[in-house]
Amino acid sequence: MLNEKIAKLINEQVNKELYSAYLYLDFAGYYEDEGLDGFAHWYQMQAKEELDHGMMMRRYLIDNGLSVMLDAITKPDKKFTDVLSPLKAGLEHEKYVTGLINNIYSEAFALKDFKTMQFLDWFIKEQGEEEKNAEDLLKKMKVFGGDAKGLYALNKELAARVYTPSKTGPEM
Ligand code: FEO
Repeated sequence: MLNEKIAKLINEQVNKELYSAYLYLDFAGYYEDEGLDGFAHWYQMQAKEELDHGMMMRRYLIDNGLSVMLDAITKPDKKFTDVLSPLKAGLEHEKYVTGLINNIYSEAFALKDFKTMQFLDWFIKEQGEEEKNAEDLLKKMKVFGGDAKGLYALNKELAARVYTPSKTGPEM
């Protein structure tokens, strides 16, 4: 049985991951409106990954004999006026999520909940990758996105992102 505090934090994280999916779908919508279908595609793939993360958290609770309480998902409310802004917001969001995951990890560590620490190891690694991807994207955009040709090439590159399902077990 999981400690009550840990279970509550993971349950909250299900909601945060679903919110992340919502947020990135909103980014995708912005880029669709701007005619940047590659950027939109990249964020759609990102949204799918976030949904996977939420499902993995949900499955962990269920596999530990707990019920999952699904809460309302906050409406994304960011308004963007330039194509660089969602990339900056994305990086900030990933840093925020890293903090949330680290917090659950440190609670699990304090409670000697080694099972949860092991479960969270995947997420710790994933957050490192998520932040790096967001940073790389922002950097590329700053270097190449300033003129129409560069933006066109970058858009084309992002259109090639392939969705890879994230999972830790046979079923989510
Ligand atoms: Fe689920 Fe982008 O971290």
